[in-house]
Amino acid sequence: MNNDFQSAFSLKGRVALITGGASGIGYAIAKCFHAAGAEVIIASRNTTKLKAAAASLGDRADYRAYDVTETEDAGRLISGIESSHGRLDILVNNAGIHLKERPESTTPEAFSDVVQTHLIGSHSLCVAAYPYLSKSSGSILFIASITSYIALPATCAYSSAKSAILGYVRSLATDWATSGIRVNAIAPGWIETPMLREVLDRDPVRKEKIMARTPLGALGSPEDIGWSATYLSSPAARFITGTTMLVDGGAAVGF
Ligand code: NAI
Repeated sequence: MNNDFQSAFSLKGRVALITGGASGIGYAIAKCFHAAGAEVIIASRNTTKLKAAAASLGDRADYRAYDVTETEDAGRLISGIESSHGRLDILVNNAGIHLKERPESTTPEAFSDVVQTHLIGSHSLCVAAYPYLSKSSGSILFIASITSYIALPATCAYSSAKSAILGYVRSLATDWATSGIRVNAIAPGWIETPMLREVLDRDPVRKEKIMARTPLGALGSPEDIGWSATYLSSPAARFITGTTMLVDGGAAVGF
């Protein structure tokens, strides 16, 4: 066991793939991993945004155009990263879409899109990454949600997908522990991304409700998730697997 503080939390020499890493929480995870010494690869659909985000991260940052719903491409993405970067140590399944729709108007197609993005797309990446992660004693991190625990209005598809992540994480953690792979999730509360800021600026009543139930009395920042992700992916968390960490200012336990 290494007792050196710096190396316990360092990601130096590690190669990390972060889906949805060009914006919001994914970008903050990439920034924090990069600050901890990792080589980061961000992947999403918009090449222009990816290119700008990777450039702003600096050296040790790369990008891949990739749609997580195109599951047949997962093997190509992962083996390409192994070829160009020599290894893969960390997979972060962060890419996501929201669906604010009441249950009675949620179509099977819309429901399926949400599940395909959050769950099936991530599953394909996990399977494709398995041989490489087992070589490097790597780890997988999912981004769940406070809706994995509590009901928010008009989010039945999103909440179902985010709740399923908790079971998936427990299952994968158990099945792949003997291959040396750790699997965890972070469940963010209300995080101040540009999208949420815009929604709350238009809806002060909702903002007040969120604040009233958050004991720490603030919205989270994307970096709050980024640093938690860094910890869970670092050697300091080597005995943590199968768990979901709420990072929500206490909102899930607030009244
Ligand atoms: P965002 O919209 O900035 O990030 C989502 C990213 O996923 C974008 O880069 C988008 O291009 C990418 N993406 C979506 N569909 C994709 C696909 N088919 N293939 C590849 N990339 C795709 O939003 P945010 O807030 O940063 O969300 C990141 C994750 O955090 C999501 O999983 C979201 O559900 C989760 N989350 C966010 C919270 C918040 O308060 N912002 C709270 C709880 C969870």
